[in-house]
Amino acid sequence: MKEKILITSALPYINNVPHIGHIIGSHLPADIFARFHRTYGDDVVFIGGADEHGTPAVVLSKQTGVPVKKIVDTLKAEHKKVYDKLNISYDNFSGTSIPMHVEITQDFANKMNENGYIHTDTVEQYYCENCQMFLPDRFLRGTCPKCGYDDCDADQCEKCYSVINAYDLINPHCYNCGGKPIIKKSTHLFFDMPKAQKAVDEYLESKKDIFKPYVYAEAKRWMTEGLKSRCITRDMEWGVPVNYPGLEDKVFYVWFEALLGYVTFTKQYDENFYEEVWKKRNGKIYHFLGKDNIPFHAVFFPAMLVGNGEHNFPYDIAGYNFLNYEGKKFSKSKRIGVFCTPLLTSDLEVDALRGYLTNILPETKDSDWKWEEFKNFVNSELVGKYGNFFNRTINLLNKNFPTLDVDIDTITLDEEDKDILQKLKDEADKITDLYKNIKLRDAFRSIMLLSIDANTYLEHKAPWNLIKEGKLDEAKKVLYICLNICRTLAILASPVLPEKTQEVWEQLNLEGQANQPDNWAKVGKVDIAINHKINEPKPLFRRIDDDYLESLKEHFSIPYELNFD
Ligand code: 2FM
Ligand code: ZN
Repeated sequence: MKEKILITSALPYINNVPHIGHIIGSHLPADIFARFHRTYGDDVVFIGGADEHGTPAVVLSKQTGVPVKKIVDTLKAEHKKVYDKLNISYDNFSGTSIPMHVEITQDFANKMNENGYIHTDTVEQYYCENCQMFLPDRFLRGTCPKCGYDDCDADQCEKCYSVINAYDLINPHCYNCGGKPIIKKSTHLFFDMPKAQKAVDEYLESKKDIFKPYVYAEAKRWMTEGLKSRCITRDMEWGVPVNYPGLEDKVFYVWFEALLGYVTFTKQYDENFYEEVWKKRNGKIYHFLGKDNIPFHAVFFPAMLVGNGEHNFPYDIAGYNFLNYEGKKFSKSKRIGVFCTPLLTSDLEVDALRGYLTNILPETKDSDWKWEEFKNFVNSELVGKYGNFFNRTINLLNKNFPTLDVDIDTITLDEEDKDILQKLKDEADKITDLYKNIKLRDAFRSIMLLSIDANTYLEHKAPWNLIKEGKLDEAKKVLYICLNICRTLAILASPVLPEKTQEVWEQLNLEGQANQPDNWAKVGKVDIAINHKINEPKPLFRRIDDDYLESLKEHFSIPYELNFD
């Protein structure tokens, strides 16, 4: 039965453009999952967009003197180019500065207020006299009270991911000028999180077998400290305005409204889908995000949803670990990493990149980008195994039986034929389950393994010898089986390798698109027309030699330079 599936990828802050670590940490796995469900036949909406507010872009604006709106518009366009180049198939890539988002956020908060989850309080707050501003979130730095990290911001510690209360920071100072802030009074809205504690506990309990163990553990870790009231407004100009009487000069805390971006962007894209999934709770919501975002999605957001009472809850939260670069942390200033803007001017095959990233998806622990490993993966797996099986099958067919005309009555399957066909079916079922359970790396690795089995079968059967010996029916049978395996291998890998599987689909001369809706029904099946006509073969992936590898290393080491002229 068709299910409604809403897939979201965390909304990036717009103070920089992504590097490959951001891609592997949410956009790519979310895209693979969306592509899988579309081809499986579900009713999918995949949304993303820019987290345009909050302090990161404002900090950058202070540092560069460029108006914050200009920064956000320029960088958002760069983000979009990168996602398009990588074939991230967003149905709607939007941004939190659209007018509809103001209405959604204000209505959501009003309802929480009606339900008794919001109160006002006058608090003493850090203020920088030098910069003449209150110091929210990233504008305030100090030493983390939990782990002792000395460049911790007043939102979340970059080292231990604890969510921080400004007052707990040790040795607080202004990020902008380094000065020591004074304390001033200001009235704010507070979210009574403790009221939602029981319901969030119950929600998490119901997710024990659905969330990945470390996502569940991370959420529980936050819960054990007990939920505390949290300030959800800020003294800033850049943000979603608050419409609460007397607080009209404030904006909402960025996490409060960014999470609601998921609601806004669904509604913006398809009002009916929004009603069904968010309001009538008829469908499943999947969030993809990096591990630092887990507490906000698995605890803070559900607590907001409890307070509001009118929206569906996340069905699953796919949290990803981090990607390192050759054993080190990515660093833009030190030029350590694989940066994404160079993609726009590179001839690197996008699916080679997608394939390698999927093969090292940090699903259970941090992983590492290694150029040498990238080269070996492309040459040995994509060229040598996966691509090779297509190429050999299509070549043999094209040369010997451009139109196959298998005589179905003469076909008798021997043990080896039966084994490979059984394997095809079993693996197709297993891989389908892996996709459904968001074990995308394992799904992809299993597809690569299946292509080894397919190559072994072809090698043993050696249809080129059968042809020489005049055993044409036997040769046709083997190639007919291989042709059907090719179709399954193409559909199975289409969520990861959308361009290449479409190319091979055309060489195979199969109808429609490899990834068209409902095509998944064909995986594991052997029912291509017996008089199938094949097209011209062409090698699928480009082999990477050492010179090319060196040029890629150099090209991808150059981060995006901010330029607002
Ligand atoms: O960590 C980040 O980049 C945040 N901007 C993610 C926000 S996800 C959602 F809430 F929008
Ligand atoms: Zn200052």
